[in-house]
Amino acid sequence: MSTEIIEFIYLICIILFIAGLKRLSRPDTARSGNLLAALGMGLAIAVTLVYPVESSSNNYAWIAAGMALGSVIGLVVAKKVKMTAMPEMVSLFNGLGGACAMFISLVEFNNYPAGTSLLNGQIFAALFALFIGSVSFTGSLIAYGKLQGFLRDSLVIPFPKVVNLLLLLGFFGLSGWFLMQPGIDFSIVLILLAVSLVYGITFVTPIGGGDMPVVISLLNAFTGIGAAAAGLIYGNQVMIVGGILVGASGTILTVMMCNAMNRSLFNVIIGGFSSSGAASGDGREAVVKEATLSDTAILLKYSEKVIFVPGYGLALAQAQHACNELAKLLEAEGVEVKFAIHPVAGRMPGHMNVLLAEADVSYDNLLELEAANKEFPTTDVVVVIGANDVINPAANEDPSSPIFGMPILEVERARNVIVMKRSMSPGYAGIENQLFFGEKTKMLFGDAKKSLKNLVDEVPES
Ligand code: TAP
Repeated sequence: MSTEIIEFIYLICIILFIAGLKRLSRPDTARSGNLLAALGMGLAIAVTLVYPVESSSNNYAWIAAGMALGSVIGLVVAKKVKMTAMPEMVSLFNGLGGACAMFISLVEFNNYPAGTSLLNGQIFAALFALFIGSVSFTGSLIAYGKLQGFLRDSLVIPFPKVVNLLLLLGFFGLSGWFLMQPGIDFSIVLILLAVSLVYGITFVTPIGGGDMPVVISLLNAFTGIGAAAAGLIYGNQVMIVGGILVGASGTILTVMMCNAMNRSLFNVIIGGFSSSGAASGDGREAVVKEATLSDTAILLKYSEKVIFVPGYGLALAQAQHACNELAKLLEAEGVEVKFAIHPVAGRMPGHMNVLLAEADVSYDNLLELEAANKEFPTTDVVVVIGANDVINPAANEDPSSPIFGMPILEVERARNVIVMKRSMSPGYAGIENQLFFGEKTKMLFGDAKKSLKNLVDEVPES
C-alpha cells in the first residue's frame, strides 16, 4: 500500500477519534462514541502494519503475539471490572500507555545512528517521551496502589517538595549534558530513565488517595502528550493527533474537576483539604431530626415532585437498582421523579451517571446542577442518598470552609429534605454539614440500599 493511501486512511482514523470523543460527551451517545474511537484505533494499527519500512527483518509474528496477548488481557479485565473499580482500571491502562512511550523512546535512543548530532527535534522528542512516559508509568502504578488500598496515605516521603525539585533539576541538568555529547551515551539514557521513574513515584505518593481521580486524569493527559512526543519521533500523524487529543481532553477534564471542587490543581497536588474533621458551623447547639420509614414512605407517596440526589454513599452501598425501583414505584403512584447530578458527586467523573445508567434510569430524568437548583423550589421532597459535600451549604455561606465557593446542589430550597446515610460522619472533605440540622431536614439513618429496599416495601402499604 502506498504511503499516500496510508496517510489518507490515517486522516479517516483521526476523524473517527474526534467524532468518537464528541459522542463521549453525552451519556446516550457515549457507547457508540467509544466504538467509533476504537474502530479508528483498530484501523490505525492495521494500516501501520502495512506501512513500507526499510528494515529487512520481519516482526509480524512478534506483533501478532503481542496484540493477541494484549487483546485477551484487555477484554477479560474490561469485562470483569466492577463499575466501582473503574478508576483503578483506567489508572493501570494509563500506566501501560506511559510505559509504551517510554519504551519507544528507549528503542529509538538505542537505534540512533552514530556520529549524528544530538541537537535535533527527534532527540528532543525522544527525551520528552522518555520523561513523560516514565512519570505516567510509575505515577499511575502508585495511583492504582492507593485506590486499591495496597499503598496507604500514611506512606511518607521525607521533604517531598525538595526531593521532587532535586529530581526535576537532576533530569534537566543531565539532559543538557547528554545533548552536549558527540553521540548517544546509553548509560546516561538509563540514568535519565531511572530519575524519571523515581520522580513519578515521589510526585504521586504524597497526594491523598481521595484526590487520585484528579491525579489519574492529569497522568492521562501526560500519557497523551508522551504518545504525541513518541509520534514526533516517527513523524506519524495519527500518533501525534491521537496523543494530542488524549492530552487535551485529559487536561480539560482535570481543570473541570478542579473547578467543580473549587480547588486549584496546585492545591490538589500539595494535598488540599484538611482531613482534620474540622467543623464548619456556627457553634450553636444543633439537634438532628430523625425520620422513620413509614413517615418517609407517606411523604414520598403523597408528593407531586421528588428529586433524588445520589452521592458517593450510593456507590458504596450499590443502591442504584433499589433507587430506580423506588423511583418507578413512585412514578406509578403519579409522582414526578427526577435525579440531580453534581459534577463531582462520587469519586470519579460521571460516577453517578454511570451507576444510574447501569440501573436503567432514563437520561431524560437526570438534571445537571444548574437545572436542579432551579427545580428545587417547586419540589416537595429531596431524597439525598449518601451525598454529603455536594449538598453542604457551607460552600455558599461559610468563607472559612475549605469547600467555600464550590457550586453545590441547594437542596434546602425544596419543601422537605430526607438524608439517607449511616451516621453523622463527614464526607470526603472531612467537614460537618449544617444541612443535617436544618429546619426542613430529616435523617433516615442506615445503609442506603437497605433503606431504599425498605421504602419499596413500605410505599404500597402507606
Ligand atoms: P461525600 O461527601 O464523600 O459523602 C459520602 C457520604 O456517603 C458520607 O458522608 C457517608 O456517610 C455516606 N455513606 C457511605 N456509605 C454509605 C452507605 N452504605 N449508605 C448510605 N450512606 C453512605 O460524597 P459526595 O457528596 O458524593 O461528594 C463527593 C466528594 O468527593 C466531594 O468532596 C468531591 O470534591 C470529592 N471528589 C470527587 C471526585 C469526582 S471526580 N467525583 C474526585 C475526587 C474527589 P456515613 O458514613 O455516615 O454513611
